[in-house]
Amino acid sequence: MIVSVILAAGEGTRMKSKHSKVTQTLLNRPMIDYVVSSSEEAGVEKNIVIVGKNIEQVKNIFQNRNIIYKTQNIGPEFPYGTGYAVSLAVDEIADDDDVLILNGDIPLLSSDSLSAFIKYHKESGLVGTLLTAIIEDPTNYGRIIKNESGHLIKIVEHRDANEEELKIHEFNPGVYIFRGSLLKESLKELDTDNDQGELYITDVVEILAKKGHILGTFLLDDVDEVHGINSKDQLSEAEEILRKRINTKHMKNGVIMENPSNIFIEPGVKIGMDTRIYSGAKILGKTVIGEDCIIDGGSTIIESEIEDNVQINRSVIEYSKVFKGATIGPFAHLRPKSEIGQNVHIGNFVETKNTKLGENTKAGHLAYIGDADLGKNINIGCGVIFVNFDGKDKFRSTIKDGAFIGSNSNVISPVTIEEDAFIAAGTSVTKDVEKGALFISRAESRSIADWVYIKRKKNR
Ligand code: UD1
Ligand code: CA
Repeated sequence: MIVSVILAAGEGTRMKSKHSKVTQTLLNRPMIDYVVSSSEEAGVEKNIVIVGKNIEQVKNIFQNRNIIYKTQNIGPEFPYGTGYAVSLAVDEIADDDDVLILNGDIPLLSSDSLSAFIKYHKESGLVGTLLTAIIEDPTNYGRIIKNESGHLIKIVEHRDANEEELKIHEFNPGVYIFRGSLLKESLKELDTDNDQGELYITDVVEILAKKGHILGTFLLDDVDEVHGINSKDQLSEAEEILRKRINTKHMKNGVIMENPSNIFIEPGVKIGMDTRIYSGAKILGKTVIGEDCIIDGGSTIIESEIEDNVQINRSVIEYSKVFKGATIGPFAHLRPKSEIGQNVHIGNFVETKNTKLGENTKAGHLAYIGDADLGKNINIGCGVIFVNFDGKDKFRSTIKDGAFIGSNSNVISPVTIEEDAFIAAGTSVTKDVEKGALFISRAESRSIADWVYIKRKKNR
């Protein structure tokens, strides 16, 4: 069986953060989630995560996932290092297991590459295989040392390497497979005889090679997948690579993007063919967008469902649904639980919340529609406000098909406005309105001739 040991207990001091390194996020998803998910997707059924002071945060990330946790005590009185971390998993490892060891700080490693690595190891019959890559600047990485026959005999850390070794560009990304029995035996032989005084997992290679075991390497072409992330600048570079990967995938699926390096799409998003996305758009969570839509720059869409042919212009949409052919914005805000019907138009500075709008209903300008059910073909005039909150409780109103709500009206909830009713501009609707009725509430107006001039004379 293949068992993975995923190292996530390190302090990550180079990250300069209150939060542990592996819980830092890329595209809103914790680094450690990428690594564990790759392992799961590559078919590893038993995943052991070594946690430290971050135990609660890590458990919180995985919640109901099937993961075994081992806790590493962190402090000056305890041993430290990747080798010590792996040793905490020994009681979960059987002699004939293949143990996949993964650094927790390589979020870009794809499950495809990991599967290929596992497959190579199995077919080669080696007792240990290391995934490697070649990088222009290998500073800080462990270097790969091979003998004349090309077998792996040692990994030397950057800070322990001599001049010759420092010239090697093939490096250790922190992905290994060892046979269980040999790994367990070697872990007992690790020492702290190195620049950092830590127990290094990398030393297992030399221990086994010296006993005559044959170990090999599997060279990965795409070095971008295996950058170890130790600092905030590396975090941002990795996020950039990830974002590019996601955007390229969407474009290959037929999405059109203007200036994709400035489009931010999270991993769970789905987008249909011929939809156009402009520079500056953010699409987050498990948002689903249909075909032939236009998402203008400056729009943010969170966890929403957008059907075909919808246009979204510089607007914010959260946890909502927009049906076919609707047009939103510019500068509209659909707050959670808005359902915008087919061909509805929501114009500038309109806010909706927990509200349904039926087909062809229009709210073109400056309105707040909260906690309401609106039918079809309704016109919401400029400046209409649904007064849904009395400071303590929220109330809901219903507006039926074909109603006309004149500009600058207040709908003081809860009320029902029946079909085709006409609310005159500037009205406060405080009670239900009958079908087809005109509803008007205005103080009678009057004009007092020369009032201004008379007042001015008095003041003098
Ligand atoms: C390690 C490798 C180095 C490799 C590099 C790749 C060792 C000795 N060196 O160095 O050869 O090129 O990764 O990025 O392994 N961790 C624990 N407990 C510990 C220490 C670390 O769980 O006591 C975890 C960390 O959380 C991290 C991973 O192990 O996820 C790697 O630790 P890190 O300190 O980043 O190792 P590097 O110095 O980068
Ligand atoms: Ca590292």
